[in-house]
Amino acid sequence: MVPSLPPLRLALLGAGTVGSAVAHRLHERRQRYADALGRPLELAGVAVRDTGRDRPGIDPALLTSDAAALAARADVVVEVMGGLEPAGELIGSALRRGAQVVTANKQLIARRGPELEALAAQAGGGLHYEAAVMAAVPVLAVVREALAGDEVLGIRGVVNGSTNYVLDLVAREGVPFADAVRQAGELGYLEADPTEDLEGLDAAAKIVILARAAWGLPVALEDVAVTGISGLTDADFAGAAGRDEVLKLVATATRDDQRGVRVEVAPRSLPLQDPLAQVRGGTNILEVDAVSAGPLRLVGAGAGGEETASAVLGDVLRAARRC
Ligand code: NAP
Ligand code: HSE
Repeated sequence: MVPSLPPLRLALLGAGTVGSAVAHRLHERRQRYADALGRPLELAGVAVRDTGRDRPGIDPALLTSDAAALAARADVVVEVMGGLEPAGELIGSALRRGAQVVTANKQLIARRGPELEALAAQAGGGLHYEAAVMAAVPVLAVVREALAGDEVLGIRGVVNGSTNYVLDLVAREGVPFADAVRQAGELGYLEADPTEDLEGLDAAAKIVILARAAWGLPVALEDVAVTGISGLTDADFAGAAGRDEVLKLVATATRDDQRGVRVEVAPRSLPLQDPLAQVRGGTNILEVDAVSAGPLRLVGAGAGGEETASAVLGDVLRAARRC
């Protein structure tokens, strides 16, 4: 008889918009995941700030406020709490002991990704962050893996769901800017600190991660020329509409002989026929131009708990196979 493998223990750090969707799907799909992995994937615990709050669908016995103790006894650590700390220290500790880590934390990866990847490589662990860029749309897999044998020339996209939702609502339905921002928050699209979205910092982090994936160069957050959407006026929206154009927050990365890579995030007024002008609501789009492949376009849900959970869970299975 083939001896059965012991369950893999998964620590879920965070049970907010993304984490609660991950917890639900882990439970619902547990048999399918066990079949795929050849062993059960057991949710060892869920770290949150407030353990007293009712969390539908999550066994209260799994809740803990001691994220470090939970992460220390897991094979796979899933960080969806956000923020630089304690997320950074928790991920660093897990990687130092050779664990597999999955995160959706684009600010942390944009700032410390190379250092954390080096830790993972030293200790034989793994760091997976497909969910950090464009949520459900598997752009890192395409840029880093599928195009590894090609030569990427440039990347251009709408990579922030909440600001796209806001711009769309203001332009098409005349909803006041502040109301549109509130609605984006209700849909779970905004960061804990919404200025990250509105000032373009979330998009900046994503284009940095994409540029590194495309060219393997040391691109930093400080390299990005960033302008957000909070300075847009009614006149800007009216002007764009009058020209049959639409305002979008566009992130670009291009090779540059002097600087290596030029990275930029700014609102742009785009003609309606531009594919970037056509994405609605929380949808994201990325255009990747490569020498042999030519132009590629990836479109899909760029924010939201369930949508982001799709990417997190893909990484969880990839990570679990390496345990
Ligand atoms: P969220 O709704 O604010 O949830 C954060 C969760 O982390 C909450 O459960 C919170 O606990 C917990 N938490 C925060 N600090 C903690 C600490 N120090 N110790 C223990 N638990 C802590 O955030 P989210 O929208 O799910 O986003 C999570 C991450 O995913 C962020 O890095 C974000 O950038 C990324 N992301 C989000 C989306 C999206 O559409 N929302 C998409 C892609 C990536 P309490 O519940 O007790 O407050
Ligand atoms: N706040 C982010 C956005 C979530 O609006 O795109 C997805 O990364």
